[in-house]
Amino acid sequence: MARTTRAAAASPAAAGHAAAVHAEEQPSAIEVFIAQRQAQDLLRFITCGSVADGKSTLVGRLLWESDQVCEDQFAALKCESKRRGTQGNALDFALLVDGLSAEREQGNTIDVAYRYFATARRRFIVADTPGQEQYTRNMVTAASTADVAVLLVDARHGLLVQTRRHAYLASLMGIRHVALAVNKMDLVRFRNTAFTRIEADFRRFAEPLGFASITAIPVSALRGDNLVERSTHTRWYAGPTLMGYLETVQAGAQAGVQDAGELAFPVQWVNRPDASFSGFSGCAVRGTVRVGDALRVTASGQSAKVAEIVTLDGPLAEARRGQAVTLRLDREIDASRGDIFSHLKNPIETTDQFEATLVWMHPDAGLAGRSYAIKLASQWSTASITAIKHRVDVDTLAHAACTQLSLNDIAVCTLALARPLAYDCYAASHALGSFILVDRFSNATVAAGMISHSLRRAQNVHRQTLSIARKHREKLNRHPGRVIWFTGLSGSGKSTLANALEAALHARGKHTYLLDGDNVRQGLNKDLGFTAADRVENIRRIAEVARLMMDAGLIVMTAFISPFRGEREMARELIGVQHFVEVFVNTPLEVCEQRDAKGLYRKARKGLLPNFTGVNSPYEAPLEPDIVLDASKDTVEESLAQLVKALGLR
Ligand code: ADX
Repeated sequence: MARTTRAAAASPAAAGHAAAVHAEEQPSAIEVFIAQRQAQDLLRFITCGSVADGKSTLVGRLLWESDQVCEDQFAALKCESKRRGTQGNALDFALLVDGLSAEREQGNTIDVAYRYFATARRRFIVADTPGQEQYTRNMVTAASTADVAVLLVDARHGLLVQTRRHAYLASLMGIRHVALAVNKMDLVRFRNTAFTRIEADFRRFAEPLGFASITAIPVSALRGDNLVERSTHTRWYAGPTLMGYLETVQAGAQAGVQDAGELAFPVQWVNRPDASFSGFSGCAVRGTVRVGDALRVTASGQSAKVAEIVTLDGPLAEARRGQAVTLRLDREIDASRGDIFSHLKNPIETTDQFEATLVWMHPDAGLAGRSYAIKLASQWSTASITAIKHRVDVDTLAHAACTQLSLNDIAVCTLALARPLAYDCYAASHALGSFILVDRFSNATVAAGMISHSLRRAQNVHRQTLSIARKHREKLNRHPGRVIWFTGLSGSGKSTLANALEAALHARGKHTYLLDGDNVRQGLNKDLGFTAADRVENIRRIAEVARLMMDAGLIVMTAFISPFRGEREMARELIGVQHFVEVFVNTPLEVCEQRDAKGLYRKARKGLLPNFTGVNSPYEAPLEPDIVLDASKDTVEESLAQLVKALGLR
């Protein structure tokens, strides 16, 4: 079976000849061919469509037409197509994508099949993303590096919810060029009217998305119309074929165009093989670094000059975006993994508060006030959502009010970080403008985010230095401030024990305050209920208030169920581990329920009280509490004695 290949047509005969004559010193034809291919322009695109739109057939045919199908795959394809009785024993191209080569990257967050092919004009990487809604995160992963989106529409059905969703996600991820492949034209007898109606519908929908170009192409993936060859059935159509479009679209590598600004070089690791050498390894995510450049460490402001750019293949005079190198500097500076170098004269902006669009990717809800780990370029910090401004309904592009984020939600939020990080807006730099949020306990990636802008307050609110600090107040009080955090089920005895402890401290002349759930919820927190989101906010406020009171020099007791580990951990970090004592009042649920002083357990069991802790809302017991008490075993006096002893009170 002889097939003339486009690939063969692309290999220059002259180079092949030269290689044959000077075999020893000249590169071989295959080397020339590979070098040529590598020098060729690369276009990354994604294909999206609903389940039965013919996406696999289309991608299969593109692979076939560009001769990326090996002989053994071809044999298997012929045989399998025949076995399945494909019409007239024609080839079932979808098998090339779905059946014969199943190299999908299966993982927690990625289920995208990347395929590579090339024609004489260009190399391509196509990311084939599944169409179902639950795969939003896969589409986001694939689209973040794509230049073009090919959206498939069935000519019989027109735009579907999925088409709109995918167009929106593509625009959100920064894709500027869209090909609307109106497929199955054969099933509408190649009628011009069917095509133009769909094209007009799409242009109207996509108008606010601001794509740089939209190209609608009537195709039949099954029969090959307008994929590579112009179809004789669509004489009314004057535009390009799909392959023609892909070969010529002036997309520019998305990241390349947008990350062409000033230098940003995140340090991946500090390379110190011995005392004589120390260098910073990584690669620029933006700009170029040259020998002699004066660099600045973003976080600390220290500076040094580049003495040498080291690579495995020898030193370089300059390193561009994406080149893995080690920078040796002309003097010792303090920088480590996660630091970002810029040019001294063009420092990178930092922020600790910004607005971003979040794509929620995890079944656990995203809650304002909860703290997550954030990774931005190579930098890590902790972050919390300060406000969920609105959710975007991707079918209508309408903004909807929203109190928490669910799987696949896309929402505009404000975030606050524990420390300022180097950043840029996503529109200007994908590398410095995108981030992920990670659950601090499970390490699961829960969201991807794109920064729209830093909040003005991040730049304009400065900490005021005050003359009297905590230590002065503590000196006057003659004891240090601290926070004693009681946690446990409703009715476990937190308030009673905290109250007894406060009385004991007071009797010893200590300055104290008790923050109690039922009381604070009647004042400062009267706007909060018992949903997970409200409890997170309840505890966030209490942690902040307790910190202020400790700063005022007081010994603060807090008595809140505080059912979530994450928020107790947040409180511990905010207040400082050395000042924070976690007291777990571990009275069993049955005992709390039997006591039921307020009759709430009874109500909850009858189904009259939603989200009641221990009944229909979770309680996450502390893993390493400082003190454990059990009000079912010990009297208040006995528990108090334990507390007094554990706290070292005289
Ligand atoms: S927390 O979970 O946000 O820490 P908090 O300690 O402030 O709760 O408030 C708990 C008190 O609110 C309980 O002791 C109980 O009296 C009352 N309460 C009313 N509804 C609920 C509920 N659904 N779940 C738990 N406690 C509730």
